[in-house]
Amino acid sequence: MSRNAVTTHALLPAIAARWSPRAFATTPVSEADLHAILEAGRWAASSYNDQPWSFIITRHGGPGHAAMLSTLVAFNQGWVAAAPVLFYSVARTHFAQDGKPNKHAWHDCGAATAQMATEASARGMQMHGMAGYDPEAARAALGIPEGHDPVAAWALGFPGDAAQLPAGLAERESAPRTRREPATLFYAGRFGTAL
Ligand SMILES: Cc1cc2nc3c(=O)[nH]c(=O)nc-3n(C[C@H](O)[C@H](O)[C@H](O)COP(=O)(O)O)c2cc1C
Repeated sequence: MSRNAVTTHALLPAIAARWSPRAFATTPVSEADLHAILEAGRWAASSYNDQPWSFIITRHGGPGHAAMLSTLVAFNQGWVAAAPVLFYSVARTHFAQDGKPNKHAWHDCGAATAQMATEASARGMQMHGMAGYDPEAARAALGIPEGHDPVAAWALGFPGDAAQLPAGLAERESAPRTRREPATLFYAGRFGTAL
């Protein structure tokens, strides 16, 4: 099922095709695909090239998967259970070099996961981010130490059949994808002045 974005300009196909499914097929993600997607994140840009990201990965039915699933809010647990890969992005909050706070650590984690999502899309897979998790439960279950923050949980896999979703979610899987108008986002030289 194509959920391609309706864009004002032609984009790289993997960007236009990226979306956030809730229904995932049980088809496993190969080791090669998984490592290529992680590699796309590793090559993201970051402030001072600090690379403050790390990723904790589990596979459906594998070690740690049930524990990771249990850190998500009930709504997310409801749709994500079939996804073949679950992972967390984690940010180191202080620069490795001098120990000063890194105000851009979460930004850089986001950049890494955006690149991963593009690579996944190019390979016919999709990622779905989740802010709906319990940070303290994630810390405890995943052994995330002080000085590191869980940033987002992610599902990764091939899009699946919406009919398998909990009640009410199947319609949302095919609802129109929307974005704010460009004029409200892009400013010419001064905040609020439309480009
Ligand atoms: C950091 C982040 C957190 C999100 N949290 C959730 C979540 O907890 N549950 C959920 O169902 N979707 C979540 N989403 C998915 C967004 O709702 C989705 O990306 C947005 O509606 C745009 O849709 P698209 O990704 O298909 O373009 C999250 C996405 C991101 C990037």
